Amino acid sequence: MELYDFGIVGLGVMGRNLLLNMADNKFAVAGLDLDLAKVQSLENEINDTHQVKATTSVADFTQAIRKPRAIMLLVPAGNPVDSAINSLLPHLEEGDIIIDGGNSYFPDTDRRFIELSKKNIHFFGMGISGGEKGARFGPSLMPGGDKGAYERLRPIFEAVAAKVNGEPCVTYLGNGSAGNYVKMVHNGIEYGVMQLIAETYDLMKRGFGIDDDKIQQTFADWNKGELQSFLVEITSEILNKFDEDGQRLVHVISDWAKSKGTGKWTSQNAMDLQAPIPVIDAAVTMRDMSKLKPERIQASEKLTWSPTVDAIDKDKVIEQIKDAFYFAMLNTYAQGLSQLTIASEAYNYGLDLEQVAKIWRGGCIIRAAALEDFRQAYSRNPALRNILLDDTVAQNVSARQEGARATIKYAVDNGIPFGAYMNALAYFDSYRSERMPTNIIQAQRDYFGAHTYERIDREGSFHTQWD
Ligand code: 6PG
Repeated sequence: MELYDFGIVGLGVMGRNLLLNMADNKFAVAGLDLDLAKVQSLENEINDTHQVKATTSVADFTQAIRKPRAIMLLVPAGNPVDSAINSLLPHLEEGDIIIDGGNSYFPDTDRRFIELSKKNIHFFGMGISGGEKGARFGPSLMPGGDKGAYERLRPIFEAVAAKVNGEPCVTYLGNGSAGNYVKMVHNGIEYGVMQLIAETYDLMKRGFGIDDDKIQQTFADWNKGELQSFLVEITSEILNKFDEDGQRLVHVISDWAKSKGTGKWTSQNAMDLQAPIPVIDAAVTMRDMSKLKPERIQASEKLTWSPTVDAIDKDKVIEQIKDAFYFAMLNTYAQGLSQLTIASEAYNYGLDLEQVAKIWRGGCIIRAAALEDFRQAYSRNPALRNILLDDTVAQNVSARQEGARATIKYAVDNGIPFGAYMNALAYFDSYRSERMPTNIIQAQRDYFGAHTYERIDREGSFHTQWD
């Protein structure tokens, strides 16, 4: 009976594709879904080389998997994960492993980890990135949990993960919820870079009046050099998609941006940890701004601004925007990676940032040529607090300042909303300020609330009678 190496619960697109990826790699996999249509749809996709069983019965499913069992859940985050665990538990035994492959909120993973370890069931929270295609042909996998249990799962994860220079985009990340935490911050960076790309498009089109063909070609060109990345690549493809009536599809897509929570959680938790990630915060905020559509329609008539448009050399400004995008993108990754450093200390994850950069080089949504530079930076100095402090990265980012400042100035003068870019620059300028104006804030706090302040020339805590 126990013929199958691995089990997958939830045969939606992600579950089905990951299962087929495992089956292609010669693993015998059992799939469970309570929806018969999903079971049948999987059965239609398997071929003679696949060793796959698909069922709607929890008992058949659990009996079919080799012990100790390894079962991955690919169900929506939140209550469905708890329901799936509860329905499996009566059929499981000590030593079995449950892997949650969804975008679960990391405190939920910690809770499940503790509850299940009391029953001697190993629990893994594993971020999976790469969307449908990634799941089918090679995702980036971010597992966290019990290290010993990971060793049992390693061969299967390494086989199905994306490969960069032959190296799999998966590694054991750390204790408890480390995997979900790293995936959450991955998504925060994803939000940030997506927002930067949207602002870039807006500036080129509305600000500089560059036509769509040229913008599309610019993103395609950028994808061939240092800006090579999945998000830049898909943007050039998106801009090349036409509707039945011949107009670009993006022009008829509503500007109401949705989200499932991971970007917001990244910002919320960053605030709890006092980890500054202003580009990601701005990206979350801009999705919220997009939902104020009725108000924005009113405001667009009342709050007007008439820019004085100067003649521009389009090729020159595109070069400046390219530098600006690279500058802002590096600052976005710097913020996310620095949040991981801070979180790893706060939650004892024991993250190795070189490994994180390494498994993000392929398979995932934020894969980019720059990740190899970051990996090398952490390899040179594993204790690096921020990639902006690495000499090579510092040089790369500094060399793009001029283009970034010129581009942001142009957006400001022309009234183009540039929240992510401006926050990238504000972060950069604050980070490189040996002295910040927060001494004024300390004085104000002491003035109105006797909250005291510290001095730079004497030890201790001070209060002044200011008025
Ligand atoms: C990935 C994506 C994936 C999902 C996002 C979408 O890494 O493959 O991040 O997990 O597409 O969660 O997030 P929003 O719906 O919040 O934009």
